Amino acid sequence: MTRLSDLAWWQKTIAYEIYPKSFLDTVGQGTGTIAGVTAKLDYLASLGVGAIWITPCYKSPMVDNGYDVENYLEIDPSFGTMDDMDELIARGRELGIRVVLDLVFNHTSEECEWFKESRKSRDNDYADWYIWHDARPDGSAPTNWRSIFGGSAWAWCEERQQYYLHTFAPQQPDLNWENPAVRSALIDIANFWVEKGVGGFRIDAITYIKKPAVFADGPADGEDGMYAVHAATANTPGILDFLHEFKVAVRDGRDIFMVGEANGVEASELGQWVGDEGVFDMLFEFSHTHVPMGKAEVWCRPADWRLAELKQALTASQEGTATNGWYPIFFENHDQPRSVVNFFRCEGSAASKAKALGTVLLTLRGTPFIMQGEELGYSNRVWKSLDEFDDLQTRSQYEFALSEGFDATQALAACNRFSRDNARTPMQWDTSANAGFSSATPWLPVHDDYQTVNVEVESADPSSPLSWFRTLAKLRSERDELVTGDYEELMADSDQVYAFRRQGEGSAAVILANLSDRPAAYDSALIEGMNLLAGTHGESTPGELRPLEAVVFGA
Ligand code: GLC
Repeated sequence: MTRLSDLAWWQKTIAYEIYPKSFLDTVGQGTGTIAGVTAKLDYLASLGVGAIWITPCYKSPMVDNGYDVENYLEIDPSFGTMDDMDELIARGRELGIRVVLDLVFNHTSEECEWFKESRKSRDNDYADWYIWHDARPDGSAPTNWRSIFGGSAWAWCEERQQYYLHTFAPQQPDLNWENPAVRSALIDIANFWVEKGVGGFRIDAITYIKKPAVFADGPADGEDGMYAVHAATANTPGILDFLHEFKVAVRDGRDIFMVGEANGVEASELGQWVGDEGVFDMLFEFSHTHVPMGKAEVWCRPADWRLAELKQALTASQEGTATNGWYPIFFENHDQPRSVVNFFRCEGSAASKAKALGTVLLTLRGTPFIMQGEELGYSNRVWKSLDEFDDLQTRSQYEFALSEGFDATQALAACNRFSRDNARTPMQWDTSANAGFSSATPWLPVHDDYQTVNVEVESADPSSPLSWFRTLAKLRSERDELVTGDYEELMADSDQVYAFRRQGEGSAAVILANLSDRPAAYDSALIEGMNLLAGTHGESTPGELRPLEAVVFGA
């Protein structure tokens, strides 16, 4: 049994993801700033947040909104200055909020000095810092791998007369982790930020850092005759050795946490990645998001899924971290559509859905990660044409959908359903112009619902998603079993209700969330001797749940 006193600060808190470009613009440029994050720390504190993960704000050409880093030790001027970052870290610490930075270490930007040198010749100091390969005899790319953003994963470099590998966009060349000089440079960068006082790191796209010993074609998995680079390179054996080295040099002995983004790791493999023998404190694996989204390779063909499957995936992750390691609970991030669309196949308001799923988010075992706007009940926006999207992946996936035989209307519908831009629309603070996000035209359109879905209006409404998130955050801070308690799934076969018990030392809670739009029944023996601690619909009749009702009982 876990004791509260055995847990680290980051296991007891709530984390919040900030997409800074869309959070708050303090200078009137249409994109958010670091000073905007500092200005809203009080708001985050009111949600019980103790860690903010900020997506990359380093100097970058912004081809992939900062996930293409030109210089890891500089702040991009569009976000502000290093002084602004120092100020955020310091103010955050005063309020008990640690800043968690995003380390993009699988690749850099093509504008990074390392790459600019590397591409010049085959024998300079940086020649071996990226993954270079000769063309095939006919001049074509070394393998048939398709990059995650579409098209070949290889780009030709005239100067070197070689191809380089890019798992993502051509402007994001992959680093060569086999080279000890690369690994050592990355360690120095991470330590630079540790010394600045950050509370930890989210480490991007980590499953791709180790490439296979032999580069070979894979069987075509699409009409384009290509093979997903993910299938060819994700989670290659030996990867953990690199990460052990990194952990020893950066994490050990420090009061920080590291959470890896690990697409391709299964819940059953969690033991190798997190915990005593692991390389990270937590791992974002995507087994549950794959349930409604299907596998990444078939992005535009939504899966036919049932709630019981989603619960199975979550339970496997809970069990995979029950005695070893820790779980980062999430339903959204900046790469996912909004959860009220993604995880529901029924009617009902976004607000009710947000509250029902938010209950699960804030009561499972692990550290909850709220994506900005999730606490307000954000929904996907309606995108009327491809031109409205900014995300490079959405654009290439639109093309991919067409190549798979979709017509233009169907391809646009798939983008509406799945585009990453759904998570990236500006934060809605109030009812003023541009939802109070910026005095200039925002870089992405504000959602049409901002007159009712915003921080100001929801703060004044006790039945809003925001008020519900605050209620649950408070409950979590008062009830140890919601943090420490063991997880046991109840009603596993139900396709309507997600129910589980959190058994702590001397106290317990039972959470029941009806994730359907029909009334649902449950055995009231499950909550025998317990009181209602919180309910989305106020008082609740034991044994019955109204559509989208969620309750927390405890004793
Ligand atoms: C990760 C990020 C995503 C980015 C990609 C390439 O998956 O979350 O936003 O596009 O890596 O860096």
